[in-house]
Amino acid sequence: MLEIVKTADGSNTIFNPLVGENYHSKHGALQESRHVFVNSGLRCFLDGKARSKSPPIEETSKETAAGTNVSILEVGFGTGLNFLLSADFCVDKGIILDYTGIEAYPLSLEMISQTDYDQYVSSELWQKFIADYERLSISPIELMPRCKLQIANCKLQTFQSDQQYDIIYFDAFAVAHQPEMWNEATISHTIRFLKPGGVFVTYAITGNLKRALKALGCKVEKAPGAPGKREMLRAVKIV
Ligand SMILES: C[S@@+](CC[C@H](N)C(=O)[O-])C[C@H]1O[C@@H](n2cnc3c(N)ncnc32)[C@H](O)[C@@H]1O
Repeated sequence: MLEIVKTADGSNTIFNPLVGENYHSKHGALQESRHVFVNSGLRCFLDGKARSKSPPIEETSKETAAGTNVSILEVGFGTGLNFLLSADFCVDKGIILDYTGIEAYPLSLEMISQTDYDQYVSSELWQKFIADYERLSISPIELMPRCKLQIANCKLQTFQSDQQYDIIYFDAFAVAHQPEMWNEATISHTIRFLKPGGVFVTYAITGNLKRALKALGCKVEKAPGAPGKREMLRAVKIV
């Protein structure tokens, strides 16, 4: 029923006929994941940390990032592309990553293997991810040195944790297909897991989402969208 399809940048995504939507942008799965989550989420958060220590940012970010701890919560883990790209970046830069993915409808290992995402990350990371994928929902696993992953196989709405995260990657299906993921109650539940000063990013931007985030004490910014989309949303939780 699920089908692997190619997007405009040559990278694969999955089409879910029941939902009527792809897991990623048709304009490019890889470029969307890199732009929205790795660059506008993770790298932006790390640059903000570096800037708060000492300028200039371009010189400090590389040095201060190594040894930095960062925790990420992803809503809609799916194929794991956002995790793989983020983990590859963190391992390369010496950043200590603690990543939790929430996924209500986990993909089979066979489906994940068919994405061909091995070509975008180190072979060691890919092999560890594939080898451990089916055990990641039982307990967190250190897939690479200083790079830990756990998948919570539950609906976002029932997810519970004592942990708060530095960054939230909000990668739910679009509001037209899954409005319950974007309503005030669900966004409020999600923001509970964000640390003060933490960053929330998503590929979409709507008036309702902006209002909900502002009411929850977040500073909301429009950022340039991934190719094919004019804008995306980034919000910072104010203390
Ligand atoms: C747009 S896709 C995410 C793509 C994913 N980040 C990737 O890179 O492959 C949305 C994901 O949200 C999951 N999902 C749907 N309803 C959910 C819910 N209530 N709670 C958690 N995950 C949900 C879907 O199964 C799907 O994997």
